[in-house]
Amino acid sequence: MKNKKIILGVTASIAIYKACDLVRRLKEEGFSVTVIQTKESEEMIKPVVFQSLSGNKVYRGLFDMPEAWEIEHISLAKQADLILIAPATANVIAKIASGICDDLLTCVVSATSAPVLIAPAMNENMYKNKITQENIAKLKNKGYMFIGPKKGKLACGDTGVGCLAEVEAIIKEANKVL
Ligand SMILES: Cc1cc2nc3c(=O)[nH]c(=O)nc-3n(C[C@H](O)[C@H](O)[C@H](O)COP(=O)(O)O)c2cc1C
Repeated sequence: MKNKKIILGVTASIAIYKACDLVRRLKEEGFSVTVIQTKESEEMIKPVVFQSLSGNKVYRGLFDMPEAWEIEHISLAKQADLILIAPATANVIAKIASGICDDLLTCVVSATSAPVLIAPAMNENMYKNKITQENIAKLKNKGYMFIGPKKGKLACGDTGVGCLAEVEAIIKEANKVL
């Protein structure tokens, strides 16, 4: 039992289905996994799926009422040994790079002193977009860690760079960081 807590940020990339397997594998590795879903990601996979796989409450809205009184984004930020965002959209990367804190996930990232590992997944043109590249370079420069994306068959049918890193590669990286 590793006794380490991973906060897994899940955003609205089509690669979200791989996050289900990622949760299952992180649990097998002995990590405690707590998922934060963005509002948009709930259009793709409902929180009940991540709740069942993680065995923990899925955190969602910034203004959802906590069961016991706590300021959720601060308490989650303090509890985390690692914040992993997988899949990470171009949007969430841009928001973090700009210091925007307009949802629970970006507030937690802003408030944490834990390491942050980001696994981007997007269309190749979105990934190669100069602004996305600048955002990634800026975050790397500030100590945020990245894994992937890798080359492969993208959801749009093209082959290119933008696929989420393999689940096993993400697990390996998380183990390395922790
Ligand atoms: C079907 C579908 C698939 C999408 N896949 C991606 C993706 O793989 N990567 C990405 O950066 N954005 C993708 N988007 C766009 C994001 O969902 C959009 O930017 C959204 O606002 C992101 O919200 P979030 O970052 O708060 O989760 C997709 C949108 C749709 C409708």
